[in-house]
Amino acid sequence: MSRRILVTSALPNANGPIHLGHVLEQIQTDIWVRFQRMRGHQAIYVCADDTHGTATMIKAEQEGVTAEALVESMRQLHVADSQGFLINHDNYYSTHSPENQLYAELIYTRLQEAGLIFNEQVEQLYDPEKGLFLADRFVVGGCPRCKTPDQYGDNCEACGATYNANELIEPKSIFSGATPELRGSDHYFFDLARYTEFLKTWTRGDAVQTEIANKLSEWLDDGLRAWDISRDAPYFGFTIPGTTDKYFYVWMDAPIGYMASFQNLCDRRDDLNFDDFWAPDSSAEVHHFIGKDIVNFHALFWPAVLDGANFRTPTKVHAHGFLTVDGTKMSKSRGTFILAKTYLEHLNPEYLRYYYAAKLNGSVDDLDLNLEDFAARVNSDLVGKVVNIASRTAGFLVKQFDGVLAEHVHDPELMNQFHAQVEPIAALFEQGDTAKAMREITSLADAANQYIAKHEPWNMAKDPEQRDAVQLVCSQGINMFRCLAVFLKPVLPSTAEKAEAFLNTPPLTWSDAEAPLLGHTINKFKPMLQRIETSQIEKMIEASKVPDTQPAEAPAAKAAAATGDSDVIGIDDFMKIQLKVARIIDAQPVEGADKLLQLTLDVGDHQRQVFSGIKAAYQAEDLVNRLTVVVANLAPRKMRFGVSEGMVLAAGPGGSDIFLLSPDSGAEPGMDVK
Ligand code: MSP
Ligand code: ZN
Repeated sequence: MSRRILVTSALPNANGPIHLGHVLEQIQTDIWVRFQRMRGHQAIYVCADDTHGTATMIKAEQEGVTAEALVESMRQLHVADSQGFLINHDNYYSTHSPENQLYAELIYTRLQEAGLIFNEQVEQLYDPEKGLFLADRFVVGGCPRCKTPDQYGDNCEACGATYNANELIEPKSIFSGATPELRGSDHYFFDLARYTEFLKTWTRGDAVQTEIANKLSEWLDDGLRAWDISRDAPYFGFTIPGTTDKYFYVWMDAPIGYMASFQNLCDRRDDLNFDDFWAPDSSAEVHHFIGKDIVNFHALFWPAVLDGANFRTPTKVHAHGFLTVDGTKMSKSRGTFILAKTYLEHLNPEYLRYYYAAKLNGSVDDLDLNLEDFAARVNSDLVGKVVNIASRTAGFLVKQFDGVLAEHVHDPELMNQFHAQVEPIAALFEQGDTAKAMREITSLADAANQYIAKHEPWNMAKDPEQRDAVQLVCSQGINMFRCLAVFLKPVLPSTAEKAEAFLNTPPLTWSDAEAPLLGHTINKFKPMLQRIETSQIEKMIEASKVPDTQPAEAPAAKAAAATGDSDVIGIDDFMKIQLKVARIIDAQPVEGADKLLQLTLDVGDHQRQVFSGIKAAYQAEDLVNRLTVVVANLAPRKMRFGVSEGMVLAAGPGGSDIFLLSPDSGAEPGMDVK
């Protein structure tokens, strides 16, 4: 029976570009959607940008544009990035849309009619200069426990304490630096407590992964508290019906954005009807793909709100873990905070689609993009194993048999191993265990390559008596390749298209892997996928490195951080950097590195060795005796050529224009730089 399935990825925040973590989620969702379509189901994939909230408002203000203009330009960037990764959205909309306002108001009104909304005074910190209520993230001050200065209003980065923003020592607004005052204001609450029992049952059904259900039961067992769904003006969002200065909290209207995006699509498509998917008795399915950080919103608030407003609840919430790069959190200074756009400027999107597929197993474990392993897996599995099967066998068929495949199967037992995997591999895709699916696929590819190696068609081709055998063996190679192309098509849509052109067949569907092509004519083989060159990865990392930013006042830095530019450092960070004058007493080129010079520095009371990428600007001998500024307390770093004990600062656009201190500036080695 054919299923009707509505699928979503979490709506990316509209206040910054998307990175490889967001891409992980979109690729996971897209693979699942493409798989469902190949199975003959109707799978509709919608997404949107999540636009509302204080962060968007502040970011727009900083950039001197309207919030509307900011979110629209961001939406276009996000759409372009998703398309670059071959994400096949049916609609990519915005939460700042008339449809979203309509559904937000409708849902709110229904909740109100059901007696699920109540009012209560809330005391909150208020910035009197900016005229703004401050969320915890927008207040900084000393930690009440360990006294570390400059901590956010909800927890301390130094000692891990959690507290309320009004407990901070000398709290300050990150926007104006003003001392916030406590003010009362009327807030609107959704009576989530009444949904505790409902959610206990709901989360123990098959709507969430077991590990998520276990986590949620910790909250559920304590009983849920009411959820504050309003924010005071000024706020970028929708006003709450019946008020003029109260807005829906961004997390109230964000998931409604799934509905809005779908409604907007229905308006353009005659074959789609909103109620078919969202009515309480709908027989269609709704699947949300999200990161583990936003499970509460999707598996507690959202189903409760939907039920309270007389809509159906989601069929399944698929949560994934977080992406790390080379084993650690993505870092701008290491160049591993990789934007979607930067990746696409250097590498083929299918490489990453494959790598993510090979790592995603349907659990919420974090997942590491190890760049070395990434290149190795793609080159060995895809280029070396899968595509190789076609490239080794196609030539003989095209040259000696006009591309016509044999009329019967040469090794039925082996061929059946492929056909026998049609349902098991489908089940793995359905469960989201693409890691296991990729392992099954590569082991089939190994079997195919062993078969070809055993029969050596290149040797048989020299013997006219073996002519039939050449055709049989190579045809089987092509048929095994075709099955793998089917299994990989959700992951590698563009390679699959090239395979379809080569195989001379209409778009492959899942059931095509159930039987071989016999007596069919194929086309000449053309390369389908190139190997990854390590240099492409290196260039991408280089391009992702963000140079040290100008030192900034702490509150401003916190404001920038709160709105997404998280690598801006505050004055405290800057003060940690020890700068000293150094004299270059020796400079040598480094064997095998075209940009590096090995410098020996006199830092007053001692010498140290530093590798510096300034060779393009200077002849080594010209540097001797020049003065420079060195970051003296940088941890020593092991490089390919030796240990670098510090970093030489130079100003200029790079290339050949780099300036060091002039020798007659009066500076002496060892002097502190202020
Ligand atoms: N706007 C909310 C979602 C609203 S859904 C109604 C949001 N936006 S986000 O831009 O911060 O994140 C969007 C999705 O990307 C979330 O599912 C989040 O978990 C995921 N990821 C963001 N960074 C990620 C990684 N580093 N790794 C994996 N997924 C990550 O949350
Ligand atoms: Zn502390």
